[in-house]
Amino acid sequence: MSDYLHIQNIHKDFSGLKVLTGVEFKVTEKERHAVIGPNGAGKTTLLNIISGKFKPSSGAILFKGKDISGKPPNVLNHYGLARSFQITNVFQELSVFYNVLAGVRSHHGLRYNFFKMPDHDRNICEKVESILEDVGLVDVKDQPASSLSYGQQRALEIAITLSTDPELILLDEPTAGMTREETNQAIQMIDKVTAGHTLIIIEHDMEVVFSLANIISVLHYGTILVSDTPEKIRNDQRVKDAYLGEG
Ligand SMILES: Nc1ncnc2c1ncn2[C@@H]1O[C@H](COP(=O)(O)OP(=O)(O)OP(=O)(O)O)[C@@H](O)[C@H]1O
Ligand SMILES: [Mg+2]
Repeated sequence: MSDYLHIQNIHKDFSGLKVLTGVEFKVTEKERHAVIGPNGAGKTTLLNIISGKFKPSSGAILFKGKDISGKPPNVLNHYGLARSFQITNVFQELSVFYNVLAGVRSHHGLRYNFFKMPDHDRNICEKVESILEDVGLVDVKDQPASSLSYGQQRALEIAITLSTDPELILLDEPTAGMTREETNQAIQMIDKVTAGHTLIIIEHDMEVVFSLANIISVLHYGTILVSDTPEKIRNDQRVKDAYLGEG
């Protein structure tokens, strides 16, 4: 049987700057895999490659045995991959409900039409409601996205990520900029909405990492220093030296 996701010897240069130099690890189905590493280690670059935003300079991304490297994000969506989008992908003037509805409808091949209000489509509306319920935004569903707090905006990004029904969810620092309290709520929410899915999460916040991940890969100087369980990572001297020791 082939692996679920195999990040195979990925190299990435930006006009001579070698950012990734042979990143190699595997992710099993339903795993919760965190990628940690110092600032500038190449974590976002790696996520951009897995999610199809960048092509690797060399190497391959094998998803269920198929090489998906270099495939555009919309094609990867159809294979069942989705990453959290940045706030700029949220339609600020639209309601929370319509932001998620647009994602669900696009996944079902229905173009969003501002003039033909699609409320009658009951299954789709129920799907939107259930996503909003899961991320804790159901009470503000009729408010414009622009009125949400920072933490709620980040929850909306996750709701939009979930709108395409992904089996593999990629999150890049979903709690960045949050207060401790917002972070604690976000941990519980992410834990709930990603249950039963495969998760790859990039995070600086160790509390988030140790709460959510069952495997952690440490990216250091463009390669994976070690991939192991949180328990082993916590006690790994190389990791302490390379990363955790930095404070
Ligand atoms: N599009 C790009 N063009 C040129 N250089 C880039 C590009 N994207 C990233 N880099 C460079 O690649 C290196 C790794 O950046 P990356 O954003 O992947 O790091 P990171 O591990 O996500 O950092 P952080 O923890 O700060 O988010 C940095 O030196 C960055 O300047
Ligand atoms: Mg980053």
